[in-house]
Amino acid sequence: MRMKKIYLGTNWKMHKNSADTKLYLQTLNEYIIDVDFEKVAIFVIPPYTSLSTVKKALKNSKLLYGAQNMHWQDEGAFTGEISPRMLKDFDIDLIELGHSERRQYYNENDIDLNRKVKAALKYNFTPLICVGEKEEDKKYGIGPEVIRKQLKIILHGVDGNALANLWIAYEPVWAIGEDGKPATPDYVKMIHGIIRDTIGELYNEEIAKEVPILYGGSVNENNAYLFLREENVNGLFIGRAAWEPKSFSRIIHQTIETFC
Ligand code: PGA
Repeated sequence: MRMKKIYLGTNWKMHKNSADTKLYLQTLNEYIIDVDFEKVAIFVIPPYTSLSTVKKALKNSKLLYGAQNMHWQDEGAFTGEISPRMLKDFDIDLIELGHSERRQYYNENDIDLNRKVKAALKYNFTPLICVGEKEEDKKYGIGPEVIRKQLKIILHGVDGNALANLWIAYEPVWAIGEDGKPATPDYVKMIHGIIRDTIGELYNEEIAKEVPILYGGSVNENNAYLFLREENVNGLFIGRAAWEPKSFSRIIHQTIETFC
């Protein structure tokens, strides 16, 4: 069953200053002027330093935006961290949590992510929770177990009603970035099914079927549709192939022509 809406977005990682941001959004808006936002949700996740530029640029826009990480506390002695209360100033819609680069380089773990999800929901941000197994996990055939474990910890104690305002991105670590190889559509379908089932077990089927599950990892113009046509793939979370507005807009238009 296909959800009504398709979700297409990009995490900019540590790219683009304010001037780049302004230009990107201006150009993207021109390319997608005809897009029906009832059919697709489009989002950008810039670095913190671009958030005020994004807020201004998207004031009357239906494009959604968010931040790449946050602390779970409102304030405190946590040098270098940004709190949900601070992010509220920028009217963000989304908060990306648990990207594998944060797990790998900054030791972020599922217990921290559980705290962050709860804090995000308290502030009415939509958590975009990234889960994904490492190459080694895949080699030993334990990808499904890793994903289930991540979800069970990250969603521990999260109220079922909150799931209406929560998205999941499946991002296998081995598929991300320059050295990554995209997962096969069959494999993505299998893991997305496991994600849906796990949420169903933790809550119930009704709740599970409403949660958007996005795939991310070396998505580009040529392979985007191969993922989107699979069951339980409700959208794409794109890195490199969406850092140029033109190529992002091509993926958006292609998706609308093929699936909407
Ligand atoms: P990529 O990044 O599309 O450049 O592989 C995906 C991600 O890290 O979310």
